[in-house]
Amino acid sequence: SKGEFDHFMLKEIYEQPRVLAETVSYAGLPTVDETIFGDNASAVFDQVEAIQIVACGTSYHAGMVAKYWFEQHLGMPCYVEVASEFRYRARAKRPNTLLLTISQSGETADSLAALRDAAPGEFLASLVIANVDNSALVRESDLVFLTQAGPEIGVASTKAFTTQLVGLLVLLLAFGRRKGLDAEVQKQLLLALRSLPDNVEAVLAQRARIEAVSERFIQKHHALFLGRGVYYPIALEGSLKLKEISYIHAEAYPAGELKHGPLALVDEDMPVIAVAPNDELLEKLRSNLEEVRSRGGELYVFAPEEAGFESSDRVHVINMPHCDAITSPITYTVALQLLSYYVAIQKGTDVDKPRNLAKSVTVE
Ligand code: M6R
Repeated sequence: SKGEFDHFMLKEIYEQPRVLAETVSYAGLPTVDETIFGDNASAVFDQVEAIQIVACGTSYHAGMVAKYWFEQHLGMPCYVEVASEFRYRARAKRPNTLLLTISQSGETADSLAALRDAAPGEFLASLVIANVDNSALVRESDLVFLTQAGPEIGVASTKAFTTQLVGLLVLLLAFGRRKGLDAEVQKQLLLALRSLPDNVEAVLAQRARIEAVSERFIQKHHALFLGRGVYYPIALEGSLKLKEISYIHAEAYPAGELKHGPLALVDEDMPVIAVAPNDELLEKLRSNLEEVRSRGGELYVFAPEEAGFESSDRVHVINMPHCDAITSPITYTVALQLLSYYVAIQKGTDVDKPRNLAKSVTVE
């Protein structure tokens, strides 16, 4: 039941502090309990040298985030591809590579076909990060990590995505012990996972502010999301959410690509949503946003106070809580979930069951 909430989507957004904590405790931290992946996990993890991630939609975005994390913190090559492309192309064999599928339902036809069609010996082993126990991907993969999101009813994926990201951080820790992940980084990551539910609560506390800015989107037909680094896939996820439930055409670009095309679209009717944490790429992003502003674009900037953005006539700053760099893609995601939810509410669309979409895509 939806309980006190008007929609499953809002309920599921609000469940995130709890289900994120449950996914963290399922992993048996502070040391990762590797048997939760399967009896054979330790032997497989010892040999893994690279990861091939295959997924669809929101789960694919989780894979894109993981690529930034695994390559930055472990120097481990990580390749990510949408399942519908991966399954139909001739692929080069990659030695000692783990095939990692990510899927809320565990039943997505293309992701399942990718696993089933992998050539014998093409991969070292398969691992799935899934939310539904005993689903096809869970039954057919060598190793499994079960996100503890609980049933997700809303077609737009929310808590499944953020718990997938936690699953990927747990995997990072499991590999990290073998690949010499800096002890300080490991400690930092454990602390960050522990404070994550509170950080998400702090984002939820911004609900009224996000609802207020959402009113400005009612008449819009297009929106542009920008992010850099690991926040580029977060921008992609934000734009997917907006288009799914509010039917506003939304695109996401790495901010550095602005000048290579999308800037031509920017005028006073184009809201530009920026994911702007206070990181080493902030100054680069700031100059991209200046370019948007000087062309009359209206800016919605999700940023912590330290980033120094100020609201003005056509700049709307949504304050983000301070949180650890490694988990902050999760907190920014929650803010963007709320934005699309409230835009959809203003537009009166069917939030939980957007037109033309199914919760689980079991045919290609
Ligand atoms: O169950 P899966 O995670 O495999 O589903 C993949 C996509 O169909 C799914 O994430 C879809 O993109 C959602 N509607 C996004 O909100």
